Amino acid sequence: MKIPQVVSTSKASTFSYHLACQLQRRSCRTVVSMATAKPTNYHFPGGLEQALVDLIRVGATGHSSGVRQLAARLIRAVPPEVDDPETFRRAVHGAVTASASAQDLRFGRGEIPEDGETHPLVDVDADPDGSGLVLAPGPQSQLQEIVVERDRSAELARAGITPTRSVLLSGPPGVGKTLAAKWLADTLNLPLVSLDLASVVSSYLGSSGRNIKAVLKYAQTGPCVLLLDEFDAVAKRRDDDTDIGELKRIVNVLLVELDKWSEVSLLVAATNHPQLLDPAVGRRFDRHIELDLPTVQEVRVILGNMGGEGLEDDVLDVAAQALTGLSGSAVVRTWELAQRRAVLNGTQLSIELIREVLWHDRSSGPERDRLWMLASLHLGMSARQIAVEAKVSHPTVSAALKRAKEHSHV
Ligand SMILES: Nc1ncnc2c1ncn2[C@@H]1O[C@H](COP(=O)(O)OP(=O)(O)OP(=O)(O)O)[C@@H](O)[C@H]1O
Ligand SMILES: [Mg+2]
Repeated sequence: MKIPQVVSTSKASTFSYHLACQLQRRSCRTVVSMATAKPTNYHFPGGLEQALVDLIRVGATGHSSGVRQLAARLIRAVPPEVDDPETFRRAVHGAVTASASAQDLRFGRGEIPEDGETHPLVDVDADPDGSGLVLAPGPQSQLQEIVVERDRSAELARAGITPTRSVLLSGPPGVGKTLAAKWLADTLNLPLVSLDLASVVSSYLGSSGRNIKAVLKYAQTGPCVLLLDEFDAVAKRRDDDTDIGELKRIVNVLLVELDKWSEVSLLVAATNHPQLLDPAVGRRFDRHIELDLPTVQEVRVILGNMGGEGLEDDVLDVAAQALTGLSGSAVVRTWELAQRRAVLNGTQLSIELIREVLWHDRSSGPERDRLWMLASLHLGMSARQIAVEAKVSHPTVSAALKRAKEHSHV
């Protein structure tokens, strides 16, 4: 029984601990050695009465996440007094799921915590859109697993296992960490509550520990996906001498809060610098998913999703090739730039895309020759025009085009 998580006074937790000890008819000593000082379920004679008392006490504080935790514990280990455990489990699960449908209401009208100057600390997106996310198979299947775990949480609960509660997303800028958090919230049909830690720490340093605590508490009041963006801004190694004491205290707050984070809400932290994180904080996440720059195939899919399926295959192939090495965010920006120019200049999208791609292209050898060849043959660009876009000399392009022509005849 992790009652101290949801009960504010140590007196109350001591009470429930001793009562549970009595009911289990074991000495407190035995319980201490079995499960880090506290009994963990209601599967003992008298467990039903105890569960009822605990539910009323926690419910009276208005702490819905605490009630959910107790319900999960009841599903995991049904008290022996219950005649039909299967029906009981279904009924408890149904009751918890029904109350979850009030989530939009809770986060739509809920009291968003504020800093001392009445600025809201978090951004609540009641209807997040995570469409268009393209990832490598590894991270993709990890995200899908998280969704499946939550869809089938009753089965996990029966086996005494909790679904993934917290995820650390890391990777270079613009690879889709924020979008992945949106995708999770969107797919799980939950609101996305986002806290940008970098701004919290820079603006309200003196009170950031308290603010972060308030946000974490708020996110536990109903099911949601809580995104802690720029996580390294606060979870830096405590041995980093460049940081002031306040940050070290925040790390300690995070350690405590992560330990007692319940499965009600999914906590997603995002960082570009996982190496800066305090290892004690990093270890506390159930999963660590690393996102990387998109491969050529992934860039091709991102371009296709943007509406590129209408373009010729070779234009997309070459664009994907040339944009490989950039982040997903840079690929999308390039596409959007080309689109704007095509509309405003009355030109073809493929021409604007190739122009943009020529500018970004850092390839060399046959790949670069192929791109220039495409620009020349397909888009009718002269060697001089290509040279301007690619920022090289005219003879360099002419020589490359000659090479590419010879190569295609071989
Ligand atoms: N893997 C991806 N699949 C599809 N689109 C992507 C991907 N990565 C980035 N994008 C595009 O770039 C935009 C910005 O990406 P996002 O903000 O999720 O990146 P990030 O990793 O959170 O970046 P930062 O580290 O700067 O916070 C997305 O809204 C999307 O349009
Ligand atoms: Mg981001």
